Order: sequence, then structure tokens, then C-alpha cells
Amino acid sequence: MTTPLLDIQTWTSEQATRRQAWQASYLAMYASVWGGIVTDPALMLVPIDDHMVHRGDGVFDTCKCVGGALYNLGAHLDRLEQSAAAVHIAMPCDRETLIGLIRDTVRAGGKAEASVRVLVSRGPGGFGCSPYDSAGPALYIMVTDLPPSFMDTHPEGATAAISAIPAKPPFFAGVKNCNYLPNVLMKKESKDRGIDFVISLDANGFLAEGPTENIGIVEADGTLAFPKLDNILPGTTMLRVVELARELAARGEGPANVLFRNVTVADAEAAAEMLIVGTTPNVTAVRRFNSRDFDHALEAPVYLCLSQALESDILANDALRTAVG
Ligand SMILES: Cc1ncc(COP(=O)(O)O)c(C=O)c1O
Repeated sequence: MTTPLLDIQTWTSEQATRRQAWQASYLAMYASVWGGIVTDPALMLVPIDDHMVHRGDGVFDTCKCVGGALYNLGAHLDRLEQSAAAVHIAMPCDRETLIGLIRDTVRAGGKAEASVRVLVSRGPGGFGCSPYDSAGPALYIMVTDLPPSFMDTHPEGATAAISAIPAKPPFFAGVKNCNYLPNVLMKKESKDRGIDFVISLDANGFLAEGPTENIGIVEADGTLAFPKLDNILPGTTMLRVVELARELAARGEGPANVLFRNVTVADAEAAAEMLIVGTTPNVTAVRRFNSRDFDHALEAPVYLCLSQALESDILANDALRTAVG
């Protein structure tokens, strides 16, 4: 046999020498299976018998830490709990404990700006399909560097087009579960086609969402419309942008009206503006959708006021900021 058999000491010293360039942004990880936090990327591992690994049996959510505070954490944890309940995974701890663990892990990462992934898995225990084989749910918290928002790296705005990958069936679209293969294939398609965001269509041909972001349009009369929530993930950013837009509309600023409705490809092509929203892109202006150019996308009024409103909310709305401490 030529493949080495590694004992625990050899394995550990081998791993210590194998830090990879792409791990430079990995700051800290908590795992309930160890009951602690590590900051050495060589240790940031998940057991292969966790059903999240071999069956995709888990749920997750991603939020961000900006200026030392977690933005809109309550909305992310609500969605995480709803996702876990939908697939019958018990939360491994109560909300207060979870917030404490998240804050501890972000603190251990040592940066005021960070991306925070919280994963709740079926847990370790055998390799069968049955969730009943697992010994109990597990919690993983992964803190990495915060990527810049899309408009910071692409100040000219985004291109978008309809994807060849269909939207997930409604139940799976609405649960942020660890089966992201359709989203992965959409991301691959966008890279392969040289398009910033591809947008899936639902079974009725209406616009659904991007791989990891929501889509909205501004109609000619100033109405901001997002697709109905039935076939998409209810994005925390989209829902907050809707609240901000309604506050602005009530003051006679921003969009004339805000609603959720079925959006066709023709509606999007005829729109005055198109927006991409999500935790990473914030509010992003689309400059081209399919073959339609949005000529003044960067000066478009609804984009300008909503991107500014969301940025101020992220930086200064103390009611939605949980200090890491
Ligand atoms: C499929 C999908 N849609 C929309 C979103 C946007 O959600 P949020 O605004 O909470 O980041 C995400 C986030 O990752 C996503 O994965």
C-alpha cells in the first residue's frame, strides 16, 4: 500500500502545514460538536458523518457584521428558525445562547467587518438517508472577511439575464436549506455567460430570484414591485428595503408605491429601473437586462434613494444593530 495511513499525531502535524491561500479570509469557527471556537483554518472542519455533508440535510443563514455590529440579526435568526422548523430540525440551543455564541465567534475573528454564516445541521450519526440516524442537531458558525458590496467593485452597475436553470419548487425555494445545487448552477451559468446575475423563472414563467439575491423592478409610474413571496426566499434585505421604501413613499419620496406581484420578463424589460438586493449586494442597480439597456441606471431615482436609505440603516439604525462587544 502506497497511500500513507495517518495516526492522529501525524495527521495533526500534516494539517498544520497545509494552510491554503483561499483560507486567508477565514477568521473563526464555532462548532457545537467541539463546544468551542477555533481560529486556525486547518481546524475548520465538519464531520463527514454529519447529514449536512452527505445528504445536504441542514439549514443556514448568512448575516453581516458592519462597524462592530450584526445588522438585522433578528430577521436572519427568525428565518433560520423557520427554515429549521420547516425541515423538522430542532434548534440546538435557545436564541439567547445562539446570539452569545455568534457574538463570541465574531469577537474571536477579531474584525469589525465580517460575514457570519450560521448552519444548523441534522448532526452526525451514520451515513444513511434517515434523519433519525443522527444523534441530534449540530450548530456551526463560520466568520469570514466581509466581501465588498457589488457596487463598490462594479461602480458601473450590473448586467442581468434570464437563467436556463428553473426556480426551485416553492417549498424548497422558501427554506434556506443546504441543498443549493440549483443556485450553484445559476452562479456557474452567470460566470460562464459573463453576466453578473442570472434570474430564474418560476413554473408559471414569472421572475423568481438570483442565485443568492432578490430582484425588483420600478415601473414607469414609479411603483416598486418585487415578485410574490410564494416562489422565492424571503430575503431579509428585500423585506427591509420594502419597509424603507414604504416609509419614503409615505413622505412623498422614493417610489410612488411598493408591492409584491407576479413580474413577467416583458414587465422587467419595460421597467424604468431594475434592482438586485441582498446581504452582499445591498441595493445594486441593473444597467442591462437581457438586451434592454437601462441608460441612466446609476442616476435612477429609486435606486439612489433606496441604496442610500439601506446604507444608513446598516450603519446607523441602532434598533437593528446588535453590538458584538
Ligand atoms: C436564494 C436566495 N435568495 C435571496 C437571498 C437574499 O437574502 P438576504 O437579503 O437575506 O441576504 C439569498 C441570500 O443568500 C438567497 O440565498
